[in-house]
Amino acid sequence: MSQLKNRSLVSITDYSKDDILKVLEIAADFEKDPRQPILQGHVIASLFFEPSTRTRLSFESAVQYLGGSIVGFASADSSSVQKGESLKDTILTVSNYSDLIVMRNPLDGSARYASEVSPVPIINAGDGANQHPTQCLLDLYSIQKTQGTLENIHIAMVGDLKYGRTVHSLVQAMSLFNATFHLVSPESLKLPSAVKRWISEAGLEYHQYTDLSEVIPNVDIIYMTRIQRERFPDPLEYEAVKNAYVLENKMLENSKDNMRVLHPLPRVNEISTDVDDNPKAYYFQQAQNGVYVRQALIAAILGLKQ
Ligand code: CP
Repeated sequence: MSQLKNRSLVSITDYSKDDILKVLEIAADFEKDPRQPILQGHVIASLFFEPSTRTRLSFESAVQYLGGSIVGFASADSSSVQKGESLKDTILTVSNYSDLIVMRNPLDGSARYASEVSPVPIINAGDGANQHPTQCLLDLYSIQKTQGTLENIHIAMVGDLKYGRTVHSLVQAMSLFNATFHLVSPESLKLPSAVKRWISEAGLEYHQYTDLSEVIPNVDIIYMTRIQRERFPDPLEYEAVKNAYVLENKMLENSKDNMRVLHPLPRVNEISTDVDDNPKAYYFQQAQNGVYVRQALIAAILGLKQ
């Protein structure tokens, strides 16, 4: 029996290295043939309490390419949460209408709570500044695809390492693959100690920088991130760091041949548009990989692929 069947995915740490590799293997199969009608008769619920373009729409594409149906809402304003309904009541109700719930919510820990009360599996599509495990899986897929391996990668993570949930998930996952971490951020947005502990406990190295240009020649992946304006308690703090890093095409001149620029997107101004035509820019292909990875996850959790 599949190791992933009927299991929620709340944090990337819920998955072992073997679980992760299994999802990536199934995703590669979907990339070859994304239109397989295996979800006919299944209903997936998509509950987005926070804005999204890529995660919500790639889940919808994933389901529809596989012949399934999707129900849900794109903002809390269009649900009965607006009338004061609790998260528990929302989840118990929606579980009557679906086989699997995909949820994004601004509260850290909300996905774990939903998974504890839900009779159907929950996929966390981002909970506050905490975790974004499906983004993490598509990031891993993109790294594996561009580098030919996930092992022994030198990765630079740049920008908002404090509030960036995609960074937290990716650090934890790459700690399973002997990565070396180059952490570039303003002093006020350093990676939280609890996440750095994952690196140390795996016996791996991390190096912290404030200067982006210092790391560019030495890394295989540059993972740029947006400064997460919506998570700052004080708008003045955001103003002080909002333009901390802007990656420009000329800065990539001395980068390694195999180096690729990733970004979970959306971008604001942290990657100049003159990078987009550089063959080392991979962020839009990365977003496309999200469809195959989300197809793989849904299929594995529903026990339709193993
Ligand atoms: N990467 C990501 O989560 O993008 P969206 O917020 O558009 O879903």
